[in-house]
Amino acid sequence: MNILVINGPNLNMLGIREPDIYGKETYNSLVEKIENYAKEKGIAVKCCQSNHEGDLVDFIQFAYGVFDGIVINPGAYTHTSIAILDAVKAVDIPTVEVHISDVSSREDFRQISYIRQACFKTICGKGTDGYLEAIDAIIEKVGK
Ligand code: DQA
Repeated sequence: MNILVINGPNLNMLGIREPDIYGKETYNSLVEKIENYAKEKGIAVKCCQSNHEGDLVDFIQFAYGVFDGIVINPGAYTHTSIAILDAVKAVDIPTVEVHISDVSSREDFRQISYIRQACFKTICGKGTDGYLEAIDAIIEKVGK
């Protein structure tokens, strides 16, 4: 079992950006937390991040034939990107959408998620623990 964790724009600024919304944990400590959890679960994980939409499409395409599952927080591209939706549909790899904040109780423009229709689960508002829950969901769906 091999899971790719993709983070989109501004998630490299975790710990600095709006800590009242996204918490004080940094991106590096998030990666460490995910890697430690994967080790505990006996699975392989790779984390990547980009501020650029095309890079996120490339990461998803790269997963084809290599990864068994994708955990993705597309950041603001959640609310705008058809290209990222199409990429997830194209590779047809079990994917979970994660948001650190509870987007459902925020601004109207955050209520739209293009990627959601290609994901078998969405996890919102659980902080960075949402990434771990997403890993569990993929293990449960795909098996070890
Ligand atoms: C986010 C929510 C998005 O609306 C926002 O643009 C982000 C982070 C979250 O993790 O809560 O960058 O995806």
